[in-house]
This record gives sequence, structure tokens and C-alpha cells, in this order.
Amino acid sequence: MKNFEPANGNSIEFKVNGKDYVVQDPDPTTSLNSWMRIQPKLTGVKVMCEEGGCGCCVVTLQKPNETPKAVNSVSVKLCLMPLCAADGCTFTTVEGLGNQQDGYHPIQTNVAQFGASQCGYCTPGFVMNMYSSLLSEDPAPTQQKIEDSFDGNICRCTGYRSLLDAMKCFACDADPNLLAQCKDIEPPSFLKRKTSNSASNCTCPDIGKAPCKGSCKTNVGVRSIKVSSDATTWLKPTSMQDLVSIMQGTDSNQFKLVCGNTSSGVFKPTSFPKYLVDINFVPDLTTTFNYSTMVKFGSCITLSSIVKLLKEKTSESVTFAPLVEHILKIAGLPVRNAASWAGNMMVKHLHREFPSDVCVLMEGAGAKVNVLNADTGITTTCSVFGTNGLMSLDMSKKVLVSLEIPKLVNGSGKNHVFISYKIMPRSQLQNAHAYVNAAFYTEVINGKPSSEIRIVYGGIRPDFARATETENFLVGKEISDANLTSSIKLLSQELAPVQQDPVDASVSYKLNLALGLFYKFYVSLYDPSKLGPGIESAITPMQRPVSTGTQTFKPDPTTYPVSQDIPKLSGILQASGEAYYLSDRLPTKDELHCAFVTSDDGNVDIDVIDDKDASMMPGFVQIITGTNFPSGVKNTHLYPFDTSQPLLATDHVEFAGQPLAIVVAESDVQARRIAAAVKVSYKNKQKAVISIQDAIDASSFFPSAENNFKMGDPDQAIADAKHKVTGECELGQQYHFYMETQYCRAEPTEEGGFSIEAATQGQSWVQNAIAYAYSLPCNKIEVATKRVGGAYGGKSTNSLITSCAAALAAYCTRKPVRFHADLKTCMSTYGARVPYLLKYTVGCDDTGLIQGLDWTIYTNSGPTIIFNAFFKINEVVIYLSAYFCENRKYKLVACKSNIPSPTWCRSPVSLQMIAFNEVMVEHIADQLNIDPIQVKQVNLYKQGQHNLYNEQLLFCNIRDIYNKYLLFTIINDLLSEYNIAERQAAIVTYNQNNKWKKRGLAVTPIKVSWSWMKHTVLVSICSDDGSVIVSHGGIESGQGINTKVAQVAAYELGIPMDNVIVQRTTNITSMNSDVTGGSITSEINCKAVIGACKILKSRIQPVKDKMDPASTWKEVIAKCYEDDIDLVVSHMVTKDGGTIRYNSYGATASEVEYDVLTGEHQILKVDTIFDCGISLNPSVDIGQVEGAFVMGIGFWLMERYVRDADTGKLLIDGTWEYKPPTTKDIPINWNIQLLKDAPNPLGVLRSKASGEPPMCMAVSIPFALKQALTSSRADHGITGFFPLKFPATVETLHELVKLDPVTNF
Ligand SMILES: Cc1cc2nc3c(=O)[nH]c(=O)nc-3n(C[C@H](O)[C@H](O)[C@H](O)COP(=O)(O)OP(=O)(O)OC[C@H]3O[C@@H](n4cnc5c(N)ncnc54)[C@H](O)[C@@H]3O)c2cc1C
Ligand code: FES
Ligand code: FES
Repeated sequence: MKNFEPANGNSIEFKVNGKDYVVQDPDPTTSLNSWMRIQPKLTGVKVMCEEGGCGCCVVTLQKPNETPKAVNSVSVKLCLMPLCAADGCTFTTVEGLGNQQDGYHPIQTNVAQFGASQCGYCTPGFVMNMYSSLLSEDPAPTQQKIEDSFDGNICRCTGYRSLLDAMKCFACDADPNLLAQCKDIEPPSFLKRKTSNSASNCTCPDIGKAPCKGSCKTNVGVRSIKVSSDATTWLKPTSMQDLVSIMQGTDSNQFKLVCGNTSSGVFKPTSFPKYLVDINFVPDLTTTFNYSTMVKFGSCITLSSIVKLLKEKTSESVTFAPLVEHILKIAGLPVRNAASWAGNMMVKHLHREFPSDVCVLMEGAGAKVNVLNADTGITTTCSVFGTNGLMSLDMSKKVLVSLEIPKLVNGSGKNHVFISYKIMPRSQLQNAHAYVNAAFYTEVINGKPSSEIRIVYGGIRPDFARATETENFLVGKEISDANLTSSIKLLSQELAPVQQDPVDASVSYKLNLALGLFYKFYVSLYDPSKLGPGIESAITPMQRPVSTGTQTFKPDPTTYPVSQDIPKLSGILQASGEAYYLSDRLPTKDELHCAFVTSDDGNVDIDVIDDKDASMMPGFVQIITGTNFPSGVKNTHLYPFDTSQPLLATDHVEFAGQPLAIVVAESDVQARRIAAAVKVSYKNKQKAVISIQDAIDASSFFPSAENNFKMGDPDQAIADAKHKVTGECELGQQYHFYMETQYCRAEPTEEGGFSIEAATQGQSWVQNAIAYAYSLPCNKIEVATKRVGGAYGGKSTNSLITSCAAALAAYCTRKPVRFHADLKTCMSTYGARVPYLLKYTVGCDDTGLIQGLDWTIYTNSGPTIIFNAFFKINEVVIYLSAYFCENRKYKLVACKSNIPSPTWCRSPVSLQMIAFNEVMVEHIADQLNIDPIQVKQVNLYKQGQHNLYNEQLLFCNIRDIYNKYLLFTIINDLLSEYNIAERQAAIVTYNQNNKWKKRGLAVTPIKVSWSWMKHTVLVSICSDDGSVIVSHGGIESGQGINTKVAQVAAYELGIPMDNVIVQRTTNITSMNSDVTGGSITSEINCKAVIGACKILKSRIQPVKDKMDPASTWKEVIAKCYEDDIDLVVSHMVTKDGGTIRYNSYGATASEVEYDVLTGEHQILKVDTIFDCGISLNPSVDIGQVEGAFVMGIGFWLMERYVRDADTGKLLIDGTWEYKPPTTKDIPINWNIQLLKDAPNPLGVLRSKASGEPPMCMAVSIPFALKQALTSSRADHGITGFFPLKFPATVETLHELVKLDPVTNF
């Protein structure tokens, strides 16, 4: 590149947390996130999706050309930012805000105080997003603004309520109740800043403390650079002239312009061009102009900056407010802070299937773009679409320069109407691309659309944008019902949508949705007084106010700290990024990294694994395949469950995503790039069995796993029953979505074994599986885990794959090796939730009382039956919900298929069984035309009835809990605590008055049984000061086990909690502990700690008895040591160690609102009563209830698995397509009550477990939606039962309403 030779050396410079960094010879293909975590060791910047979807890598950025610095700091996602783009910039990471040495920032302390972290892996991202939001433009935001700004951060654990509450304390209109909760916290310095703009009172964005001296700028500022690595050169011109000369002197396929680089999160680059050209500092591309007729944005202006300007100028054009509203639905805030409009349009230019919101909006608003041809120097002005529009231009050697948005002002007979829509998989308008988006514009003159009319759609098909025929038809036509019907007919022919792939929305949904959006637009042109009854509901948007709620519990101060709502002990460390995760461990000098080569196809044989090119790539060390496996090592990972399952496929490949080889390399990135470059060919393709129906069709079952259970005489009872109800229900997979993906580090030891550090839920499983594979005694395998960044069952059997892979690479190389499975690998290679299909027949009487039931349950087990091996049918149905029936039979059929073996996932089995029961009773209610609430009530267990183990339910309180909702039936429609009857009546009225918006309400009761497991704890008292160390057998994965264990140890020993520390879990201290799971691990370990403490006390007491009663704990312990008392106790709780089993009960009422024309919905109100006994820690348990419930919302409403029907390949392997709930998917009003005065005589210190059951209660939401759908179907004449399909996505729900736009609109 001779024509661009800036003076600087091959280095970049930037500032992080006030410290200058100079990076020599930076690699232009490296992300700043990778660099930040390894070089300055700032591991508070987390890594998960690496595609901008999760938010755990958010930091504060200030670009060198932005002043004054304190107001231009924004949140960005570092995984999308190239290292070289950092030149001249200033960053603040979570470490820069506060830490143990320097004290913590108020945001960090608030998060800890509100119990707003569980596993804590997402927490630094939330903290930094808040910090950046407060710094940028509005130091005193409203609660609404704060909630709105968290549209780009995902948390799988907390359910968001606590996080939002912690943040909303910083609002200028903060709820006094929230402020009361953080009264001990210093007022945030940001709020003070509002009263003074002087720099001396400002908080320094670099170090998070006042005063800002304004001296934090980098030394380099804005400058041109040219830095190279092996194959790619990073060029940063700072003038248009330089940019043009770079483009002139380079073949267009050799360079790529880079603005925010966020498109790499959507379309991941598989290779890099010779030149990456950073255009962010070319002044012509970064300028904004506000003219009287238009606003003009340079091509590097970000979406956030456009929002900011248009908001300020709202009154200057009717288009500006709707544009702002829609742009705020694009991605999430930290992406919008980096993403340019030009980059967005060019993504559409390169990938026509991309449903660009920017293109649709700008075409609708009549905007024009200016494009410069670098070769000719000519600038062309064009629209986005159309014959000579941007999309039709050859863009080689061209650069987008600016965007002109015209100002449209009403008055003097002019009436411009501009409306846009975006309907997406996340109903609540956050961080998701559109199924279909649309923008409509016209000028209404004398009640008729003028000749200026634009109907623009995205997501319909790659070559379609403008509905020109319909536009032409409407010109000058009166706004009338007849013209509405004609245009709907015309539009329905013109659209002709296509489904581009199985992940894309269906053709029928796209068509009906697009017509529904047009209907909304057209109806809004009517004179409101002429609209028919209920029609206005088509136009009124669903408003989401600030979320509110209550958390009610009754602790018992007599047992404090047990039962006290103590925030999680590690909360502050998680909020400051100081908490340690294995993924944060820095590689040692000799450490290697490995990655899987995985299969693209299933039920096929391997032909050739070709690593010729891959092995030449930088960093390559070794490749291990199924056929060159080291002799003497067993190629398996699933010991003892199914040792026939290989770690690496040898000849036959069972499923797409299966590991075929392990690549070992010098760095993580190299290992992944090399693995991707290994070529695999296949032969002998056979049809893959993907779904349960495929398996039934092919009779592909595991006969050995089939088992049956019968009680009473169900056949006779069904035959005798007055009513028979028959149906089926299928429940699919769910990805665990742990924020810390799978990690393991294996190091060969001097004894010939392995030292393993693993992000696992089952240390003894890891130990035993590795020992088996290497024929080693178990004592040569040491396993340690500090904490894991989320698990939910996904790090149980799945972690064996990771651990055995790391051990294999370490064995082959004799070096420490780290295995980090990225998100795509975790999703496509590892098992997810088990899919089920239920076929049921029920007999019942006129009240809906179930007299007999007959269920056949199919599970999709993948190639092995590990999961079914654990759950026999009688154990499965023991989890059954709250309903009793004397005559039942169950049959379990395990299907053999070509998907990764499914595994445990939060509430395994109970989730499906409880849902199946709800499906069944709701079906009965539908068929008998009775309120489902009543059918549920008559079937509830009564105290004293027997469960399927023939155990009497002595302490059953399900009827009490449920009746709290149902008092109206008992006390003759008087108000009950939750006003269910009144709300039901109000819903009926609402639905009568609103044709296009509907509401529904459903109540779900649950009963869940628990069984005990085995865990070992070690409790040691330090003789010198009496402090206590506990190491237990569970894994801290966010459920608060360490906090509960510390509370119990302090209580039992009678010492302050400060005297107790809970250290990491190792198999040396807690040998033979079961896997952490089933919600029960905290209790079992607490029980074990109680046992250990009692032994310690029995040893201490005789010594104490001989001492002065006033002796301190420290003195007593010192004396014990002097008297040779053993102050270390290991204790194990076993399945037979006392109480075996108890039940948890609960009930939830959910109320929803549904948009009939789009399928969108919102959860208006959820009230939950949950039975936690006397909670060991209400703060932790409420957090568990909330987190589980929101994970349930994801399962029931949005998280769908889509596989290629031929290969079985997972088609939703990232955050672009897979959508767990975000902050606005939670209930708008959410009230949680831990059942009061309900001590559990069978539990640990009167408590009950909390982690999983609340997830099952979220099934009330789809059933509430079903009621809304039923009302809409009735409006257009469809009555009778219809089955729900799960997940009940926006698309699925819309299709169930069965609208025919031509006849129903
Ligand atoms: C998590 C996530 C969610 C998203 N959600 C949405 C969504 O809901 N709706 C939506 O519409 N989009 C969405 N996007 C896409 C996002 O809006 C675009 O990635 C972004 O606008 C691209 O801008 P950029 O500055 O980052 O471009 P870059 O990534 O830097 O560049 C993108 C392309 O444009 C080219 N380019 C950039 N500037 C110019 C120029 N001036 N002239 C010529 N070529 C240029 C580049 O060479 C490159 O090919 C999402 C992205 C992410 C990561
Ligand atoms: S890792 Fe950056 S957003 Fe997920
Ligand atoms: S605490 Fe948010 S993902 Fe675990």
C-alpha cells in the first residue's frame, strides 16, 4: 500500500482504566476482548457469545474525537471491536470502577446489596452498561430510561428483577421503596454531577471516581495508522483524500471498510482480506448537519447518535419520533452505540436476506444516500431501493458518504403519516432481528392518500422491498372499508413471501403479518370517529411501563443468620469482576489450547479427515482423531453411563455436531481457526432420525429403556367415565445458556495422573470418567472448581465431554491443555433439554374430576439412553403435579435418534410432567366448557392422600395455596388476595371491547417431590484464631450454596458469619459427592455441615465446660488445640441419612395481553406463592424463584430448536437466532410470596428447596395466552378445543388464531 504511508510505527496506543498501553505489531484480526482478557488481565470483561448478543463484555468507550469526554462515553461490546480499532481510544472496564483495595463503586455495591447476581458471569456487563448509560448524556435518567438501556444484556440466572431494581436506584424518579433498600449506600456521585458541569465535580470515566481532571486522553488522539500482521494490514486514514487513495490503489476484493464492525456479530467472518480500512476518523464521514429541509448524517454516525439528534429535533418532522422509536428496537444499546447506518445498509447490500431495519425505515421516510465512487470521484445520490437505488448499485470501490432524511412538517393542508413496525421473536421489542418489518408513508389530502405513498417491507423475500402495485392502487383512493379490502387482496398477491430457511418465519405467518401491519397502518388513516367497535385496538400500541413488584417473606429472627435475607457472599466480587471463573484463569507459558472438529452431518460414515492445510496454519501443534487415538486410552467419555459412546467418532457419525477430532494449538483462537479449516468428507449417508415422530415412523427405540407403571384399574375407569379426552403434546429442547461456556483445564501430574480444573457440576463424574479412560486409579485424578458461570444441568454429563477432551490433549502433548468450547460448539455438540411427546387419554366426570388416565410418553434420547437410565417411569411420574388420580397407567418409550444425547436441564422431567398435567386438565376444561381453575381445584391432592410411592402426603398444603387464588368460589365472589374473579370479569369485558387486543389469565398449581443425594463436607477450625473453613461437595453455580452453607455453619457453631469462609470444591476434601443438581444440593450440604458442626461441638464442649463461661470462641478453640482435639471433621449425608423425601408446593396466576394482528404479547401481571418452608435465605430463594420462572418464560414462549431435517444440524447455534428472555420479557407487575408460617418438618432447618419448581409454574403464561387466543378465534367464529404448540412463539400463537386477512379484516 504505497499510496498510504503514515509516519507511525507498527503499533497502536490506547488507555484502559487510566493506564496507557502500547501494543506492538497488533494482529488486525484479533478482537479487543481477547486482548483485554489476556494482556492486561482484565478478566472482568467476560466472554461468551462473541457476536454481540449477550452483553457480558460491555465496557465504557470514549473515542478520541469526542468531547467533552464525560458526556460522550458509551457502552460498547468488546467482542465486536477489533484490537486495532482501539488506537487513540479510552476504555473503562469493571475493574476501573472499584475493587477491594480502592473501594467499590455505588453501582457495584447496589448490585451486591440487591442480590442481583447469582452465577455472576453476566454481572460486570450489567454494571458497565449502567455506568456507561449514566455517563453518556443523562446523568440523572428516569427509571424508564434505565430499564430501556438494558436491552443488550442477557442474564440467565436472576430473572432481571433484582438487577433492574439495583439500577433503578440511580434514577431521578427512583421508587422510594427501592431507595429505602439501599439507604446504606452512598449517594451516587453521578447525581451530584447534575448540579455542576465543572470538570472538578465530574466522575472520571476512566477510574470511576471524582474528580475528573480531564487529563485522561491518550497521548496519540486521532492519527493515521498502518499496522500489519502476517496476512492482514489495518489502515486508518484520517482524511477523505487518504481513504480515496487507499481505495483507488487497491483491488476491491482486497480491502474491507470497517466502521463499528458490529456486522461481524451477524455474519461472522470466515477469512480476512488483505486490508481492513478503519473509516471512523475520516471527518467527512463523521459529520452531522441539520438543514431546514433535512438532516444529514455522515456514514460513520452511529444509530445511537441518530437517535440522539432526531430526539432533539422531533418537532421538526413527523417522521423523527417514529424513526427514533423504531431505531431503538435495533439490536441493543451497546451495539447501537457502535453500529453505523451505513454499515447496516451495506450488510443488506451484501446479504439480501438480512431484514435490515435501517433500510426499511429510510426508504419509508424518503431518505437518500450519497455514494462516492473512489475511482471517478463522482458522488451519486439515490434512494435505498428501486431501479437506481443503493441496492442495485455495484458498490466495488465505492463508499457511502452520507444519508439525507427529509423533514416533513404537517400544516397548511399537509398531513403526513409515517408509521413503522418491527415484529420479532422476542415479543418485547428487544435485541432481536425482525420476522417482518415495515414502514408506511403517505400524505393524506382531502381524506385520500396522495401520489406520495410508500409501502416498504423487510423480511418478506430477498428481492422484495416496495409494494408498488398496492401503492399505485391506493393513490387518490378514498379511505374506506371497500378500498381496504381491495388493497388487502392486492397486497396479498403482491407480497409472495418466501421462507428462506427452516429458521425463518413461515410463508403464511409472513404474509398474514405483513397484511396485519398494513391493516394497522390503513386503519390509522381513518377518522377515529368512523372506526367500528373494538377496531381502535389495532392501532393502540402495547405500552410497557416500568416494571414493578413485591417480594414477600417472613424470616425467623430467632434462628439468624439462618432464615435471614443475607445478600450472596460473593455478590460484590461478581459485581467488580474480581470473582474467579476458570475461564478467567490466565494461560501459563507452556499451556496449550484445543478445539473440536465437529461433524456437519448425522447418521453417516466418515470418509476422510483432511488436515493438510489446517496443519500448516500458525500455532498448530497436533490433531487427534478417532482413528489415531493413543493406544491404551479408551475412546469414551460417558463412564459409567454408556461407555459405548465415543469421545471422537471413529467411523460412524451419529449426529451433526459430533466431535470427530481434537486440534491442539498454541492459542484458543488458533485452535478454533485450525479446527474450522479441517476438511471432512462423508460416505454411506443414511436417513437421520431427528424428531420423535421420525423415530416412531422408523420404529427407532431403545427397547431396554421401555418401562411401565400402573395403579388401580385405569382402563375400566376410563371406559366407565362419562367423558373421554384424548390428545397429545410435544415439548422440545432448550439450551441451558450458561453464560460461561464449557471449560476445562487438564495438567499431567508427576504421579502419572491429571490435575483437572473443571467448570463442572459433577466432580466425581469427571474424576471417574477420566480414571476409566486412562485405566488409572481414581486417586490420581484431582478435580477442583471454584464456581461456574451458570450450569442449569448443562455442566453435568456435558462436562465429561469437555474434561475428557482436555485430558486427552494433555495426555498426548504432556502439557497443560485448556479446552474452551465456544457458544456454537456448546449449542451444537452438547446435549440440551430432553424432548418429550405425550399421548394421553383421560376419563372424567361432569365436574372434570379425573377418574382414569392413560399416558404414553416418548422421549427423544439421541444415540444413548443415559437420561432415561436415570429416570424410570415410576420415578418420572412421582414428580407429577398437584393432581390426584386413583387409576393411572404410564408407559415410557425412549426413542433412539441422531441428535446429541439430551441431558439434565433445570427442572428436568418435572417441567414436562407438570406441563403435561396442565395440558390435560386445560383440555378437560375446554371440552367440558368449565373454567379450568375449577377443574384444577377438584383434582388437587388432599392432605393424607397417597402419592405413587404409596407415601401419604402428610404435610400437603397445595389446596391452601391454591385456594388463596380461589377464595371467590368459597366466599361467594368476595375479594380474594389476588382478585382473580374480578380480574377474570374485567378480562371478559376487555375482550368484548377490543377486537385486535385480547387478554387472558391462567392459574397453575404445582407439587414437586424431592429426593436426597450424597454429599461430603469438610469443616475445619483454624486453631490460631478460631476462623472456620468449609469445603462442601456442591458446586457454586449461582444458587447461593456457599452463602447458605456459611449461614448454617455460623448458626450451628454459634459464631458470626464473618468467621466462616467457604472455599472451592475439590474432590480431595469432598470425595464421593454426587452431582450438583435437582435444587437439593444446597440443602444436603447444609445438612452435612450441620452434622460436621455437631461432631465438632461434641468435641469442643467438654473443653469448653472446663473453661470460664466468659471465654471467647477464639480462646476455647486455642484450648482445644492445646488439648489435642481434632478440629477437622469430614461428614457425609446419604440417601438414607434421615429424611428421604418431601414435596414442595406452589401456585402462580399469570395475566397477559395479546396483539391479534401480530402475535406479540406482554405479561401484565404474575402472582406467585411458593412454598420454601422457612427459607434458609429468602433473598437467595426469591432470586432462585425469579430466575427459574424467567427461564420458564423462555422455554414456553421463545426458545425454539430448529434442526436441518436431512442432517440434523442445529440451525440456531448463536444469539442471532436463539432467544432467551431479556429484561422486558419479564412480567410488568410481578409479586412473589414465599409461603408464610410453613415450616417443613422433613427438611433442613425447616426449609425447602427452591431452584427448579418455579420454572414449572411459568406454564401458566402460555395458558393465559391461550385464553386470549380463544377469545379472538371466537370473534371470527372458531370455537372448540385447540392444542397449544410449544414453544408458543409469536409466530406459533399468531397461526393458532387462524385469521384470514381477506375475510377477517
Ligand atoms: C447483536 C446484534 C443485533 C442486531 N440487531 C439488528 C436489528 O435488529 N436490526 C437491524 O437492522 N440490524 C441489526 N444488527 C445489525 C447492525 O445494525 C449492523 O451490524 C450495523 O448497523 C453495521 O454497522 P457497522 O458500523 O458496525 O458496520 P461494519 O460492521 O463496520 O460494516 C458492515 C459492512 O458495511 C461496510 N461498510 C461500512 N461502512 C461503509 C461505508 N461508509 N461505505 C461502504 N461500505 C461500508 C463494511 O465494509 C462491511 O461490509 C444487529 C447487529 C448485532 C451485532
Ligand atoms: S461476548 Fe460480547 S456480547 Fe457476548
Ligand atoms: S447471574 Fe446473570 S447469568 Fe448468572
